[in-house]
Amino acid sequence: MNNPILENIRSRRSIRKYKETQITDEELSTVLEAGTYAPSGMGMQSPILVAVQDPGTKKQLIQMNAKIMGSDTNPYYGAPTLVLVFAPVDRNTYIEDGSCVLDTMMLAAHSIGLASCWIHREREMFASAEGKELMKKWGIPENFAGIGALALGYADCPLPQAPDRREGRVIRI
Ligand SMILES: Cc1cc2nc3c(=O)[nH]c(=O)nc-3n(C[C@H](O)[C@H](O)[C@H](O)COP(=O)(O)O)c2cc1C
Repeated sequence: MNNPILENIRSRRSIRKYKETQITDEELSTVLEAGTYAPSGMGMQSPILVAVQDPGTKKQLIQMNAKIMGSDTNPYYGAPTLVLVFAPVDRNTYIEDGSCVLDTMMLAAHSIGLASCWIHREREMFASAEGKELMKKWGIPENFAGIGALALGYADCPLPQAPDRREGRVIRI
């Protein structure tokens, strides 16, 4: 079967090269709002989303993430907007809840012509003293952990073709 939503799911790809041009406020709001509609365990809507466009804060996040990665490259690939997702560790579905937010935002971004890539290591970043300081500054309670981030912007490369789907991953009884 096909419809615009299935086509959007099939054609979304992780993008690792971004234009410097910032996305519009309307585009950012659309992606963030979509993230708030992601499902969550017991419908608790517990994840918190932090959109970062401030150059100084982005620089700090790039340095924190690169240090954990053990690299001096930009782990966010120069994306003009970063969206960090946090969730409270005392909810037993916190990783799943945060992950659903990230995936929902990636699909929403693709549907409006934005490029994105899920970026890892936010758990370690926000378990550090520097990360906890940032969380305090942003008003995020201490019981929250970093789940992941989205690099978000306009692609500066063609949309990659999806590799063929691996066989044998679906079992129907
Ligand atoms: C939990 C998770 C962590 C990821 N972390 C990174 C990352 O740190 N850097 C990166 O470039 N891509 C990261 N990705 C993106 C994957 O590499 C990407 O989804 C995969 O290669 C498949 O490509 P596609 O998204 O284009 O289908 C991550 C994806 C997931 C789900």
